[in-house]
Amino acid sequence: MTDLDEAPKRAAIIDACLKMNAVGLNTGNAGNISVRHAEGLLITPSSIPYEALVPDDIVFLGLDGTVRGNRKPSSEWRFHRDILRARADLGAVVHAHAPYCTTLAIMHMDIPAVHYMVAAAGGGDIRCAPYATFGTQELSDKVLEALEGRKACLMAHHGMLAAEASLDKAMWLAVEVEALARQYHGALLIGDPPVLSDQQLAEAVAQFSAGYGQAERDPDQTA
Ligand code: 13P
Repeated sequence: MTDLDEAPKRAAIIDACLKMNAVGLNTGNAGNISVRHAEGLLITPSSIPYEALVPDDIVFLGLDGTVRGNRKPSSEWRFHRDILRARADLGAVVHAHAPYCTTLAIMHMDIPAVHYMVAAAGGGDIRCAPYATFGTQELSDKVLEALEGRKACLMAHHGMLAAEASLDKAMWLAVEVEALARQYHGALLIGDPPVLSDQQLAEAVAQFSAGYGQAERDPDQTA
Protein backbone atom coordinates (compact mmCIF):
# COMPACT_ATOMS: atom_id res chain seq x y z
CA MET A 1 0.00 0.00 0.00
CA THR A 2 1.12 3.55 -0.60
CA ASP A 3 0.48 6.51 1.67
CA LEU A 4 -0.87 9.85 0.51
CA ASP A 5 2.20 11.50 -0.96
CA GLU A 6 3.91 8.32 -2.12
CA ALA A 7 2.02 7.96 -5.42
CA PRO A 8 3.02 11.41 -6.80
CA LYS A 9 6.64 10.78 -5.79
CA ARG A 10 6.66 7.46 -7.67
CA ALA A 11 5.20 9.20 -10.76
CA ALA A 12 7.70 12.08 -10.47
CA ILE A 13 10.64 9.64 -10.36
CA ILE A 14 9.48 7.97 -13.59
CA ASP A 15 8.97 11.38 -15.26
CA ALA A 16 12.48 12.44 -14.22
CA CYS A 17 14.00 9.20 -15.60
CA LEU A 18 12.32 9.77 -18.96
CA LYS A 19 13.38 13.43 -18.92
CA MET A 20 17.03 12.68 -18.15
CA ASN A 21 17.22 10.48 -21.24
CA ALA A 22 15.16 12.88 -23.39
CA VAL A 23 17.50 15.82 -22.65
CA GLY A 24 20.66 13.79 -23.27
CA LEU A 25 21.75 13.60 -19.65
CA ASN A 26 21.75 9.82 -19.76
CA THR A 27 21.25 6.92 -22.15
CA GLY A 28 19.44 3.58 -21.95
CA ASN A 29 18.82 2.29 -18.47
CA ALA A 30 22.07 3.62 -17.00
CA GLY A 31 21.58 5.98 -14.07
CA ASN A 32 19.13 5.90 -11.18
CA ILE A 33 17.03 8.31 -9.12
CA SER A 34 15.82 8.45 -5.51
CA VAL A 35 13.57 10.70 -3.45
CA ARG A 36 13.39 10.84 0.35
CA HIS A 37 10.20 9.29 1.69
CA ALA A 38 9.08 8.57 5.26
CA GLU A 39 12.00 6.88 7.11
CA GLY A 40 13.74 6.01 3.86
CA LEU A 41 13.65 6.62 0.13
CA LEU A 42 11.85 5.70 -3.05
CA ILE A 43 14.32 4.51 -5.68
CA THR A 44 14.30 3.25 -9.26
CA PRO A 45 14.48 -0.53 -9.71
CA SER A 46 17.63 -2.05 -11.19
CA SER A 47 17.95 -2.42 -14.96
CA ILE A 48 14.36 -1.86 -16.12
CA PRO A 49 14.14 0.37 -19.22
CA TYR A 50 12.63 3.70 -18.17
CA GLU A 51 9.93 3.60 -20.86
CA ALA A 52 8.64 0.37 -19.30
CA LEU A 53 8.49 1.64 -15.70
CA VAL A 54 5.17 1.75 -13.86
CA PRO A 55 4.72 3.31 -10.39
CA ASP A 56 4.69 -0.08 -8.62
CA ASP A 57 8.20 -0.78 -9.96
CA ILE A 58 9.65 1.99 -7.77
CA VAL A 59 11.11 0.43 -4.63
CA PHE A 60 10.87 1.74 -1.05
CA LEU A 61 14.12 1.35 0.84
CA GLY A 62 14.24 2.09 4.56
CA LEU A 63 17.28 3.92 5.95
CA ASP A 64 17.76 0.75 8.03
CA GLY A 65 18.04 -1.34 4.84
CA THR A 66 14.50 -2.78 4.75
CA VAL A 67 13.08 -3.13 1.23
CA ARG A 68 9.41 -2.94 0.22
CA GLY A 69 8.39 -3.52 -3.39
CA ASN A 70 8.04 -5.97 -6.24
CA ARG A 71 11.43 -5.20 -7.72
CA LYS A 72 15.09 -5.26 -6.79
CA PRO A 73 16.29 -1.70 -6.02
CA SER A 74 18.96 0.01 -8.15
CA SER A 75 22.38 -1.56 -7.71
CA GLU A 76 23.46 1.90 -6.46
CA TRP A 77 21.04 1.91 -3.49
CA ARG A 78 23.98 2.21 -1.12
CA PHE A 79 25.07 5.69 -2.20
CA HIS A 80 21.47 6.89 -2.52
CA ARG A 81 20.70 5.62 1.00
CA ASP A 82 24.00 6.86 2.47
CA ILE A 83 23.65 10.37 0.96
CA LEU A 84 20.07 10.80 2.18
CA ARG A 85 20.97 9.37 5.60
CA ALA A 86 24.03 11.61 6.02
CA ARG A 87 22.69 14.82 4.53
CA ALA A 88 19.51 16.28 6.03
CA ASP A 89 19.77 19.16 3.51
CA LEU A 90 19.17 16.78 0.58
CA GLY A 91 15.91 15.13 -0.48
CA ALA A 92 16.60 13.66 -3.92
CA VAL A 93 19.55 12.14 -5.79
CA VAL A 94 19.99 11.92 -9.58
CA HIS A 95 22.77 9.69 -10.92
CA ALA A 96 23.46 9.70 -14.68
CA HIS A 97 26.14 8.65 -17.14
CA ALA A 98 26.04 12.18 -18.60
CA PRO A 99 28.37 12.31 -21.63
CA TYR A 100 30.54 15.36 -20.84
CA CYS A 101 30.70 14.71 -17.09
CA THR A 102 31.69 11.13 -17.84
CA THR A 103 34.33 12.26 -20.35
CA LEU A 104 35.99 14.38 -17.62
CA ALA A 105 35.48 11.57 -15.07
CA ILE A 106 37.30 9.12 -17.35
CA MET A 107 40.24 11.53 -17.10
CA HIS A 108 39.81 11.79 -13.27
CA MET A 109 39.29 15.55 -13.65
CA ASP A 110 37.48 17.81 -11.21
CA ILE A 111 35.56 20.77 -12.68
CA PRO A 112 37.33 23.91 -11.42
CA ALA A 113 35.79 27.39 -11.15
CA VAL A 114 35.77 28.13 -14.88
CA HIS A 115 32.22 29.51 -14.63
CA TYR A 116 30.35 30.99 -11.67
CA MET A 117 27.73 28.22 -12.01
CA VAL A 118 30.16 25.86 -10.30
CA ALA A 119 28.92 27.55 -7.09
CA ALA A 120 25.43 26.10 -7.67
CA ALA A 121 26.89 22.79 -6.46
CA GLY A 122 27.94 24.45 -3.20
CA GLY A 123 31.57 25.50 -3.57
CA GLY A 124 34.57 26.33 -5.72
CA ASP A 125 34.79 23.10 -7.67
CA ILE A 126 32.98 19.88 -8.48
CA ARG A 127 35.14 16.98 -7.36
CA CYS A 128 35.67 13.69 -9.13
CA ALA A 129 35.34 10.73 -6.73
CA PRO A 130 38.06 8.09 -7.28
CA TYR A 131 37.01 4.89 -9.06
CA ALA A 132 35.36 2.00 -7.25
CA THR A 133 33.21 -0.83 -8.63
CA PHE A 134 29.57 0.14 -9.20
CA GLY A 135 27.14 -0.89 -6.48
CA THR A 136 29.78 -1.23 -3.74
CA GLN A 137 30.09 0.33 -0.31
CA GLU A 138 33.54 1.51 -1.39
CA LEU A 139 31.96 3.58 -4.17
CA SER A 140 29.38 4.99 -1.76
CA ASP A 141 32.11 6.01 0.72
CA LYS A 142 34.11 7.74 -2.03
CA VAL A 143 31.05 9.54 -3.36
CA LEU A 144 30.13 10.82 0.09
CA GLU A 145 33.65 12.15 0.55
CA ALA A 146 33.55 13.94 -2.84
CA LEU A 147 30.21 15.47 -1.83
CA GLU A 148 31.53 17.08 1.36
CA GLY A 149 30.24 20.66 1.26
CA ARG A 150 28.87 19.97 -2.24
CA LYS A 151 25.67 18.82 -3.92
CA ALA A 152 27.21 17.25 -7.02
CA CYS A 153 30.26 15.22 -8.00
CA LEU A 154 31.76 13.26 -10.87
CA MET A 155 32.59 9.56 -10.48
CA ALA A 156 35.78 8.29 -12.12
CA HIS A 157 35.20 5.95 -15.10
CA HIS A 158 31.48 6.06 -14.34
CA GLY A 159 29.39 9.26 -14.42
CA MET A 160 28.03 12.00 -12.18
CA LEU A 161 25.45 12.68 -9.55
CA ALA A 162 23.52 15.70 -8.34
CA ALA A 163 21.52 15.92 -5.13
CA GLU A 164 19.23 18.67 -3.91
CA ALA A 165 16.37 19.41 -1.55
CA SER A 166 13.77 18.30 -4.12
CA LEU A 167 13.73 16.16 -7.25
CA ASP A 168 13.03 19.18 -9.49
CA LYS A 169 16.06 20.96 -8.04
CA ALA A 170 18.26 17.87 -8.33
CA MET A 171 17.31 17.53 -12.01
CA TRP A 172 18.03 21.24 -12.54
CA LEU A 173 21.44 20.87 -10.91
CA ALA A 174 22.26 17.72 -12.92
CA VAL A 175 21.53 19.56 -16.18
CA GLU A 176 23.64 22.55 -15.06
CA VAL A 177 26.59 20.35 -14.06
CA GLU A 178 26.51 18.60 -17.43
CA ALA A 179 26.41 22.02 -19.16
CA LEU A 180 29.44 23.08 -17.09
CA ALA A 181 31.31 19.90 -18.02
CA ARG A 182 30.60 20.59 -21.68
CA GLN A 183 31.79 24.19 -21.39
CA TYR A 184 34.94 23.13 -19.52
CA HIS A 185 35.66 20.44 -22.12
CA GLY A 186 35.26 23.07 -24.88
CA ALA A 187 37.53 25.56 -23.10
CA LEU A 188 40.20 22.86 -22.65
CA LEU A 189 40.18 22.33 -26.42
CA ILE A 190 41.11 26.01 -26.88
CA GLY A 191 43.80 26.13 -24.19
CA ASP A 192 44.36 26.44 -20.47
CA PRO A 193 41.13 27.92 -19.04
CA PRO A 194 41.53 30.68 -16.41
CA VAL A 195 39.53 30.29 -13.20
CA LEU A 196 37.59 32.71 -11.00
CA SER A 197 39.34 34.14 -7.93
CA ASP A 198 38.43 32.98 -4.41
CA GLN A 199 36.69 36.33 -3.86
CA GLN A 200 34.61 36.03 -7.06
CA LEU A 201 33.66 32.51 -6.11
CA ALA A 202 32.76 33.38 -2.53
CA GLU A 203 30.40 36.05 -3.89
CA ALA A 204 28.75 33.56 -6.28
CA VAL A 205 28.36 30.97 -3.48
CA ALA A 206 26.82 33.69 -1.27
CA GLN A 207 24.34 34.59 -4.04
CA PHE A 208 23.23 30.95 -4.32
CA SER A 209 23.06 30.58 -0.51
CA ALA A 210 20.93 33.73 -0.29
CA GLY A 211 18.30 31.79 -2.22
CA TYR A 212 18.64 31.76 -5.99
CA GLY A 213 15.31 31.08 -7.70
CA GLN A 214 11.67 31.81 -7.00
CA ALA A 215 10.56 31.58 -3.40
CA GLU A 216 7.41 32.65 -1.57
CA ARG A 217 7.57 36.41 -1.89
CA ASP A 218 5.77 39.44 -0.62
CA PRO A 219 4.36 41.18 -3.73
CA ASP A 220 5.48 44.55 -2.33
CA GLN A 221 9.10 43.57 -1.73
CA THR A 222 11.88 45.13 -3.75
CA ALA A 223 14.13 43.14 -6.12
P1 13P B 1 20.87 0.16 -11.97
O1 13P B 1 20.04 -0.20 -13.21
O2 13P B 1 21.04 -1.04 -11.07
O3 13P B 1 20.31 1.36 -11.28
O4 13P B 1 22.33 0.49 -12.46
C1 13P B 1 22.60 1.49 -13.40
C2 13P B 1 23.85 2.25 -13.10
O5 13P B 1 24.04 3.30 -13.65
C3 13P B 1 24.83 1.72 -12.14
O6 13P B 1 25.75 2.71 -11.82
